[in-house]
Amino acid sequence: LCLFFSFHAGVRGLDVEQSPSALSLQEGAGAALKCNFSKAVNSVQWFRQNLRGGGLTSLFFIASGMKQSGRLNCTVNMRERSSTLHIAASQLEDAASYLC
Ligand SMILES: *[C@@H]1O[C@H](CO)[C@@H](O)[C@H](O)[C@H]1NC(C)=O
Ligand SMILES: *[C@@H]1O[C@H](CO)[C@@H](O)[C@H](O)[C@H]1NC(C)=O
Repeated sequence: LCLFFSFHAGVRGLDVEQSPSALSLQEGAGAALKCNFSKAVNSVQWFRQNLRGGGLTSLFFIASGMKQSGRLNCTVNMRERSSTLHIAASQLEDAASYLC
């Protein structure tokens, strides 16, 4: 099971750092993917993209605190200018690129 985490900066002049850049996990393991930003942001959006390419699926739009959807949750820390996506009990279907 491979989770790729690729770089995406949606705003001009904003640097986004994503870590780790790639991740390979045992099925069932959890993962945390983090983005941090060079400037303050109002909100963060997370997407998933199928490994074969294709469209982006929106996972979360978050402006504060925490959001949860099934095995996924997302937190944002505006003071640290960072956002983390947590995946619990990973499954094959989670193998994808994740973008913030
Ligand atoms: C992200 O955080 C790391 C560690 O705090 C820092 O070194 C880096 O400059 C940050 N990246 C951006 C784009 O702000
Ligand atoms: C988010 O997911 C992580 C990993 O599964 C978990 O440890 C954490 O408690 C969850 N956060 C909340 C607020 O549910």
